[in-house]
Amino acid sequence: MRISVIGCGYLGAVHAACMAKLGHEVVGIDVDERKVAELSKAAAPFYEPGLDDLLRDVQETGRLSFTTDMSAAAGNDIHFICVGTPQKKGENAADMSFVDSAVTALLPHVAAGNLVVGKSTVPVGTAARLEGLLEASEPTAHLVWNPEFLREGHAVQDTLSPDRLVYGVKSGEEEHVAVAILDDVYAGPIADGTPRLVTDHATAELVKAAANSFLATKISFINAMAEVCEASGADVTRLADAIGLDDRIGRKFLHAGIGFGGGCLPKDIRAFMARAGELGADQALTFLREVDAINMRRRTRVVELTRELMGGMLLGKRITVLGAAFKPESDDVRDSPALSIAAQLQLQGAVVTVTDPKALPNAARRFPELQYEPELSKAVAKADALLLLTEWEEFRRLDPYELAVSVASPRILDGRNVLDAGKWRAAGWTYRGLGRP
Ligand code: UGA
Repeated sequence: MRISVIGCGYLGAVHAACMAKLGHEVVGIDVDERKVAELSKAAAPFYEPGLDDLLRDVQETGRLSFTTDMSAAAGNDIHFICVGTPQKKGENAADMSFVDSAVTALLPHVAAGNLVVGKSTVPVGTAARLEGLLEASEPTAHLVWNPEFLREGHAVQDTLSPDRLVYGVKSGEEEHVAVAILDDVYAGPIADGTPRLVTDHATAELVKAAANSFLATKISFINAMAEVCEASGADVTRLADAIGLDDRIGRKFLHAGIGFGGGCLPKDIRAFMARAGELGADQALTFLREVDAINMRRRTRVVELTRELMGGMLLGKRITVLGAAFKPESDDVRDSPALSIAAQLQLQGAVVTVTDPKALPNAARRFPELQYEPELSKAVAKADALLLLTEWEEFRRLDPYELAVSVASPRILDGRNVLDAGKWRAAGWTYRGLGRP
């Protein structure tokens, strides 16, 4: 099939490359010339494991190209909308301006029988609104909502072998003409057994908001348990192991620590609350306010614990923060709890150095006031305390004996509860986890 992918960020660039991998002819379209230039040279403009190799692989086949020119969408059968929906400045709601301008620019190039397929995370009701615009411009084209569930760091795998495919079509019926067309697009994953659900527009939009809200709630639940564990001397990691063995609960997404961040969960739960309010269903989601509050409290708690670890005083103390990305295997620092903690510590007088294997250039753009050191051995030298805030594999593997020689004082706060406390203590470190004795 001939496919356009509009928006080539974390979602669109991966989607475009994966659609070409599945055998389609794909053009990726983005307003950012730098991004398009890099992608055209088969270089991912951000770090995502496997994406560079995939881009090289598919570009050699001639099935994938990138451009800033929206008219390249003309003649294609399917147009995927993959632009961002960030949080509006000063409000909880999602900023829909990128979706709206992408669709407006696309409409003149949509031909009879085409599909316009939304993948971005949007407030419920968006598809119905866009369907109206599409019908007015090309009455025989169809608007489908096909939410994306990929995780950064696993994006290629998640796109080629998703857990499920959801097609939101106007009628909500399997017989809708768009269903067979999308089945052709995703023929590979469907043949491999990926379940596929057909819903109406609103349900498809809500599936994504509900899934991210559930994940955020699960993380805040275990972080709330971490608060109770701290107050009672219990160990939240063992508690999570024990409740996670009940397969109705499950151990995944029960890692207590500094909380969730990134470009999705925080802004998605806020946009969901805002939209529910507009619909008069705000009471249904007031619990998400608590989920958000528990999450934000983790960051303040780490600053307090660091002060305790330093004997009550942060001023002039050399703190090394291990990790800037919002999670490992990503260079994304959007709403990164690690960076937010680093910045708060610096504001309170600590001398903060941040190190991260991939995210330092993005971090330096967002928080230019912090010091950054790419080399781990230099970053930890003479530190008064280390804070492990993003659980990259190389930080998990650190040798407490070797490291004790470099630092000024062997103190570590394990913000992700991934280190072996006994081993670090045996090597002479003062170890603090979150929600652990
Ligand atoms: C999230 C969802 O997991 C995806 O399914 C969804 O498609 C995506 O948002 C999106 O809306 O586009 P992502 O933001 O890449 O994916 O990252 P997650 O793996 O969900 O992690 C989110 C945050 O939660 C990270 O900061 C992570 O460190 C934190 N987390 C995760 C915990 O603190 N504890 C856990 O047990 C799990």
